[in-house]
This record gives sequence, structure tokens and C-alpha cells, in this order.
Amino acid sequence: MYEEKLISGKEISAAAKAEISKKVAELKAKGIHPKLSVIIVGENPASQSYVRGKHKDCAECDILSDNIALPESTTQEELLDIIDKLNKDNTVHGILVQLPLPKHIEEYAVINAIDPSKDVDGFTAVNVGNMNIGKDCFAPCTPQGCIDMLDYAGVDLCGKDVVVIGRSNIVGKPVSVLALQRSATVTICHSKTKNIAEKTRMADIIIVAVGRENFLTADMVKEGAVVIDVGINRNSEGKLCGDADFDGLIGKVSKITPVPGGVGLMTRVNLLKNTVKSAENVEK
Ligand code: GUN
Repeated sequence: MYEEKLISGKEISAAAKAEISKKVAELKAKGIHPKLSVIIVGENPASQSYVRGKHKDCAECDILSDNIALPESTTQEELLDIIDKLNKDNTVHGILVQLPLPKHIEEYAVINAIDPSKDVDGFTAVNVGNMNIGKDCFAPCTPQGCIDMLDYAGVDLCGKDVVVIGRSNIVGKPVSVLALQRSATVTICHSKTKNIAEKTRMADIIIVAVGRENFLTADMVKEGAVVIDVGINRNSEGKLCGDADFDGLIGKVSKITPVPGGVGLMTRVNLLKNTVKSAENVEK
């Protein structure tokens, strides 16, 4: 009944994948076969599942991918050594270190050991810095996915009041920057914000990334608002759900992203886009 209100990650990612496959074929014709190297340390089941998804996506678009699965006991030095080899390997265009890393490894040191020109996650300080000043960069996959969904739905950010809930380095902060670059007026809410509902009720667009089921409820949004739900949670029945009370909101919002079938698919497709972009940069 509310079909027209859904911003479908399935639809957008399918169109993007077709475009990516075309670009891969063009690159291959020039002797460049895009390749992503994924490093995973330890046996976190959620991380293993995410990584499997990344390889499946690559295969679907004929992007090469290799999986470097390392034991939990891997030292930081060993990991840095592997990254150094991948940095120097001309056949590798993208390097992704799956997070979180085991506690004995310093995430910042590892991420920033990745050559920024192969940092398809957009997590290195160089990429984050370039994104912040609006220079060419690998935009982080989830934040860019949020913007892509708004674009696809025809929601212009210019002059809009955008409220972002969550201030993580992976989502909240970068999506705020990307929205600001589109000339939105951005408010970032977090766990210490006073009266979040007062802020969200003013918003034209709400991007929620807190990791809590049913965090955003209908009383917190104005009529006709747009909601981008970045959350991926499991409810008490084990079902995937986002941070927004979808059933409560759907009658009130003008557009909303579903979970599953929403932002998560955009994250995955943007990793492919960044890998192809890196391979295209080799030509330049
Ligand atoms: N762990 C959870 N999300 C991500 C992501 O986007 N990239 C990496 N490298 N690790 C993650």
C-alpha cells in the first residue's frame, strides 16, 4: 500500500551493479581487471558473513577478489607486512581490512598503513581529510550510500534541515559532511544530546545510525519527513530490523528506506564502485 514511499536499495543497487559490470568489461578490454583484497583477522561470525557478501558481490560484477583470512593471534607487525605487500602489488586495486580487529591490534595504525589510493573503504586519514575539504577521494561506502538513496528518490538536500543521529567515524560524522557538501543544514545528535525528539521533529531528512531497534518513532518526526535508516539489528524474534519503527513511521513519512533491502545493499555496491574507480585511476 505504501510501496511508493519506499526507497529500495534492491532497485538502486541492481541498476548500479549493471553499470559497474559495464565498466569492468571496459577496463578488462584495456588489460586491467579490477581486484579487491579483503583481510579478515579472527573468526567473528558477523564479520565472516559480511566478507562472504563482499566476495559474492565482486563475483557478480566480475571483479576479482581474494580473501586473506588470518588467525586471531596475528600480530600487528604481521598484518602491516601483508598490507605493505598489497600496497606494492599492481594487480590489487582495493584493500579492505574488515573491522573490528582483535584488541591487541591498533586499528588506526593498520587502516592508515593502507595506500590511500587503494583505500576503497575511505577510512584512511588522507581520504577522510580529502572528503572533509571536498576533494576527490574514496567516499566511505555507507555514508555515500545514504546520499545515493536520496539522489535516486529525487530528494534534493540543498537548504534542507538534516538531522543525523549517531556520530561514529564510519557513518554519523562522514554522512554529515557529505550532506553539508550538498548545502544541507546539518545537526548531529548523539547519546549526550538533550531532547533528540525536539531536533528530529524539525528535520526534513533524518539519517539514523545508532544500532537500536525502534529508536526513531513516529512522534519524533514531522509529517512528510524522509527517513534513511542505517541500523542493522536483530529483534527479539531474530529478525533483521533497522533503527526506525518502520510500521509506526510509514503512514507519516514521505519516504523511508526499508531494512533489510535498504542502506546495507548500498554499502555493498559502493565498495564495488570504489574498487572500479581505483582501477580506473591506474589508467590516468
Ligand atoms: N565493519 C563493519 N562495517 C565495515 C565497513 O564498512 N568496512 C570495514 N572494513 N569493516 C567494517
